[in-house]
This record gives sequence, C-alpha cells and structure tokens, in this order.
Amino acid sequence: MLVPSDWLPQAPLERLQLGWLTHAGIDVAILRLDRIDPLISGNKWFKLVEHLKAADRAGAAGIISLGGAHSNHLHALAAAGKRLGFATVGLLRGHPQVTPTVADLQAFGMQLHWLGYAGYRARHQADFWQPWQALYPTLQAVPEGGGGWLGAQGCTVLKTQVEQQLPRLGWDDFHGWWLACGTGTTLAGLVLAEAGERRVYGALAVPEDHGVAPQVEAIVREAGQANPRYQLIDASRGGFAKVDAALLAFIAQSEQVSGVPLEPLYTGKALLALRREVEAGRFAPGTRLVFVHTGGLQGRRGLPQSGE
Ligand SMILES: Cc1ncc(COP(=O)(O)O)c(C=O)c1O
Repeated sequence: MLVPSDWLPQAPLERLQLGWLTHAGIDVAILRLDRIDPLISGNKWFKLVEHLKAADRAGAAGIISLGGAHSNHLHALAAAGKRLGFATVGLLRGHPQVTPTVADLQAFGMQLHWLGYAGYRARHQADFWQPWQALYPTLQAVPEGGGGWLGAQGCTVLKTQVEQQLPRLGWDDFHGWWLACGTGTTLAGLVLAEAGERRVYGALAVPEDHGVAPQVEAIVREAGQANPRYQLIDASRGGFAKVDAALLAFIAQSEQVSGVPLEPLYTGKALLALRREVEAGRFAPGTRLVFVHTGGLQGRRGLPQSGE
C-alpha cells in the first residue's frame, strides 16, 4: 500500500492578523497546508493522494514523476516515499546540479535522472514514458505537478477540513477562498467541492497565457459541474518566479506582523494580490475569506531573501 487508509494529514486553520485587513473590516483565516507534516508540505500532498491511490489500485510499488531542480512537487513526492515507504524516481529538467531541493531528494532516497532541456521538453510526446516504464516496470507515472482530474479530486477534502475548524475561530460560515494558482488544480478541487456554494478566487502566479483557465475549465467540465463559481486574478508581477523588491519587502513585513512564513513565487504573490484587491474595495466590510497557504517554503532556499 502506498497510502495507508488511516493517514490523512490535517491542516490547521488560524486567524490571519494584518493591519490592512483590519482597516478594511475583512476577516481572513489561513489554512496552513505548510504545517501538515514536518516533511510533506503544502497543497502537493493533496494533489498527490489520488494519484497514489490509483497506483495502489494498479498494484504499483512506487511512483515516477518529473520536475525542476527546485520542484515542490518532487520534494513532496520524495518525502512521501520516505515517510510511507514506497520507491520514488524523479526525472529532472536540465543538467545535473545540486540545489537544496536536489540534496533533499537524494537524502529522501529518490532515484534521479537528468533529462537535459530538450529531453524534458519531450515529456508531452506519446512515447515519452515507454523507456521509463521499461526500466521501472513496477512504478506508476504521475504527470508533472501531480495535476489533472485526480490532482483536483485530492484537494476537495480541504473544504471539510476548513468547515470542521470554523467553530474554533468563532465563525459560523465564510464567503470565499483565496489561493495561489500555478496550474489551477488546487483551485479546481475547491470549485468542485463547493459545487456553486462559495466563490473561489485564484491568484495567478503565472502569466495568463500559461493556460490555467482552460485547464480549470477542462476539470470542471469533466466533473459535469453546472454552476462553477471562481475567478482568476493576475498576481504574477510580470512572470512566473519574477521577484521584485516591493514583493520581498511586503513578505518580510507580513511575516513579521502575522508570524506566518511566506515564499515569493506563490503565497507571497497571492497575499499581495489580496491586499491590492482589498484596498481597491473588491470586498465589502464583514467579508470572511479563507486564504490557503499552499506551502512551497522549501523552495525558498534557492531564492533571494528579503533585503538581499
Ligand atoms: C507552493 C505552491 N503553491 C501553489 C501552487 C499552485 O498549485 P496548482 O498547480 O494546483 O495551481 C504550487 C504548484 O504549482 C506550489 O508549489
């Protein structure tokens, strides 16, 4: 078994205290997916879990997947393999290098293969997996980032995890979700879980031409969802992984005031986009939102820190 049936990490829900929220009369609670496990962090576990269950059903002994040298996805997969005792193989973009992420992948026991850049670009070709499947016949392939329909399905449980914790915050309900989007898989899972009830706001960490909207639409369509309520909002600040001084200063200040660690690629950009929208008056005073902390803190080690 890759996933023990009794192992479901719980994410704590906490109040997020920041001056600009208080000033606008907006209440925000933060779902700390970064705190679900000392090793396996963020939305990645939830995106992986249904892929792992599918691998279990297929009788696989482990997982083979792809990513870059700072990949949060490979990091969570390798950590899950170590924690739960299954084999993992990572196919990496580019040429061999040692980043903090790569060092962790090796320490977690993931078998690595470097594909170069052209080799990695070939990942969408029909025969890409053939030689890997021949080399590792007992492993199940999981697409880059753990996305797609199965990835979204694994994220639907977040709704229940939040609802169970509302009384502890003194909330009887909330109005909507706010979270960072890279592929839109996590957002799609929440849209499916809400089934038209609460609105889901996706802060795009990638430019609009990265295809998030069609990917979300495809998952929602596959689910036959009649009344999806979501909105995608640009938060990329000029491109994926583009980091600027104003963003770093905002992150440093937010961390100091709230005590919540952030990283600049996803969670920092998502929170800064929320401040922009709150200050522009998008939400009426009294609005309650759940901000999803999607993790990614391990990737911070390879990036410039605030003040540098
Ligand atoms: C830390 C972090 N937050 C958010 C995302 C975006 O998640 P999704 O691809 O489900 O939109 C990712 C990965 O892409 C991530 O690593």
